[in-house]
Amino acid sequence: MSMFPDRVRCYEAAMAGTIICIGVMSAAFAQSIPLPYTGIGRTATPAEIKAWDIDVRPDFKGLPPGAGSVANGQQIWETKCESCHGTFGESNEVFTPITGGTTPEDRVTGHVEALMRSDFPQRTTLMKLTQLSTLWDYINRAMPWNAPKSLTVDEVYAVTAYILNLGDILPADFVLSDKNIREVQAMLPNRNGMLKFEPLWNIKGSGDVHNTLCMTDCKIDAKTISSLPDFARNAHGNLAEQNRLIGPVQGINTAEVFGDATPAKKAATKVVSTAPDASDLAKKYACVACHATRSKLIGPSYKDISAKYNGDVGASAKLAAKIRIGGAGTWGTTPMPAHAAISDEDLHALAQWSLSGGQ
Ligand code: HEC
Ligand code: HEC
Repeated sequence: MSMFPDRVRCYEAAMAGTIICIGVMSAAFAQSIPLPYTGIGRTATPAEIKAWDIDVRPDFKGLPPGAGSVANGQQIWETKCESCHGTFGESNEVFTPITGGTTPEDRVTGHVEALMRSDFPQRTTLMKLTQLSTLWDYINRAMPWNAPKSLTVDEVYAVTAYILNLGDILPADFVLSDKNIREVQAMLPNRNGMLKFEPLWNIKGSGDVHNTLCMTDCKIDAKTISSLPDFARNAHGNLAEQNRLIGPVQGINTAEVFGDATPAKKAATKVVSTAPDASDLAKKYACVACHATRSKLIGPSYKDISAKYNGDVGASAKLAAKIRIGGAGTWGTTPMPAHAAISDEDLHALAQWSLSGGQ
């Protein structure tokens, strides 16, 4: 028998990026047919199962005993959570706000009134939360985002308590624990907000759509129910210049006037917004992924570039060189990548165009 296995099976352990490979000798392999998996793997140890089995259910089954105060939670929040979620959990930068949108009346009814309003700008975590176990479990398994599972059990209690304090659900001197968590569940603003939608649960029932089955010559009943109002057209610059390169959602040309605009008005806006060929080059070389005419994206806006080098006669050559080799330091610490594959002609057109503010 050879010293080397002739079948190797590898299993990637999802957690630590560990690869476990198991070699199977020919003789052993032959013997194991027709059950190729016998003798492979082993029963997980109790410690391994414990490390995986961390879910906390709505009835709090699985919740480990422990306790944490609002005060301690505030310290954890300020050192480990605030940078992304804001001082009061209100930040909309990295993720939708955690707090806000709940009222004392909601805590009485168990229904968050703002969820029913179409004019309410955001749905925060505390507006939607129906099960406290979800909040506890999610923080325990996933937060802080840059170091998941680094909090101790007591720290998870503490920071959960602090979030509820930020939402005016718990007083500042509260200590949340496995003993009182059921009482706190009964105080959640949206605790009665969960709906059991029968068609999704009852597999023998009828579906929740009422379309008629159709494969050919189907009646298409299309109507526009939402559109960009004229006043908002250029609120964020021309969306067509800010397209993501990947993905189906492409911004429309908001520099053009649509709808009820007269042909003359349309023509007028077109002339203003039509850029020379360089704007096609900017698309071709994906400059648009990082630069827009008026607003800063990853790199500075063309308007700002134009303003900075206004009157600088050597700027065009300098910028062409910079686009070619890339680099950081003029506008901040984020570097622009090098662009090796652009022809000299295109490069100078792009440099000129950047200097003209993208016109
Ligand atoms: C580095 C940024 C960052 C830090 C630090 C961070 N979070 Fe988050 N947090 C996120 C992001 C991003 C999400 C959304 C993740 C997703 O949906 O996959 C999130 C989601 C959450 C949610 C779920 C909100 C919801 O409605 O689904 C909670 C709760 C939360 N974080 C709490 C915390 C707590 C508590 C800490 C500190 C112990 C913390 N976060 C630290 C970035 C961060
Ligand atoms: C991945 C993002 C990214 C891409 C793609 C990109 N840029 Fe940049 N660009 C930047 C950043 C970031 C800076 C600021 C660099 C700095 O601070 O020195 C910058 C700076 C510039 C500047 C000003 C340079 C200076 O020194 O003042 C010009 C001009 C420019 N880019 C043009 C272009 C053109 C043209 C393209 C397409 C060929 C392009 N960029 C592609 C990110 C990018």
